Amino acid sequence: MSRRIPLIAGNWKMHKTGMQAVEAATQLQDLVKHATDVEVMIAPTFTALYQVAQALKGSHIAVGAQNLHWEKQGAFTGEISADMLVDAGCRHVIVGHSERRQFFGETDASVNRKIRAALAAGLFPVFCIGETEAQREAGETFSVLDKQVRDGLKDFVFDDLSDLVIAYEPVWAIGTGKTASKEQAQEAHQFIRSLLDTLFGKPFASAVRILYGGSVKPDNVRALMEMPDIDGALVGGASLDPETFSKLVFFNH
Ligand code: PGA
Repeated sequence: MSRRIPLIAGNWKMHKTGMQAVEAATQLQDLVKHATDVEVMIAPTFTALYQVAQALKGSHIAVGAQNLHWEKQGAFTGEISADMLVDAGCRHVIVGHSERRQFFGETDASVNRKIRAALAAGLFPVFCIGETEAQREAGETFSVLDKQVRDGLKDFVFDDLSDLVIAYEPVWAIGTGKTASKEQAQEAHQFIRSLLDTLFGKPFASAVRILYGGSVKPDNVRALMEMPDIDGALVGGASLDPETFSKLVFFNH
């Protein structure tokens, strides 16, 4: 089995102006400069991307965006293309976050096109999936994940996907303080990995990183990261404060 380097990713959502983002990123850089064997990514808002990427030049913190449009350019008011994100200094882009699905009409089909556009531009897509509370209570967790993975990755082949990262984020755990237990998270991650094995084969399934997201905090990160199929975290609330986020980066200390 190939070794999966953990990725600790911060999703800053609609927080921080450019100056505030640069300040937090610079502090974080200093706090995590001795971190080894872990990748770190932060995803500020669009307006802060370039400044943050400039401020972090030469550091090992990567910059990601929170969304993109699938077209290269054109009459799409308010949208941003993959090439524009690369130009702003991004290496990653979050795709299909549940807030985009819930509030902005994101579908498995649009997620599929966005993943394709991101990969074509050389970005690492962080492809988010996860069930709602009602779906979990109805016993539909696995069927929801199955559909999201199959439709989100429809018409891809193994070779296309080497830069893909997946994030399992149960919607009921996002921003609620209700983390999935490490067993619940592991069970979902294992399900996703075995589905990827079926769809794309073992080399891909054993190499792809699957992050957990949903109220990850310094006091629960270690237990989650000890689970065999959890390869990192996608963090909202606890990523905003550099000190707190740095504790997540040093989860194994
Ligand atoms: P949270 O958000 O850590 O605040 O729950 C996670 C996410 O939305 O990616």
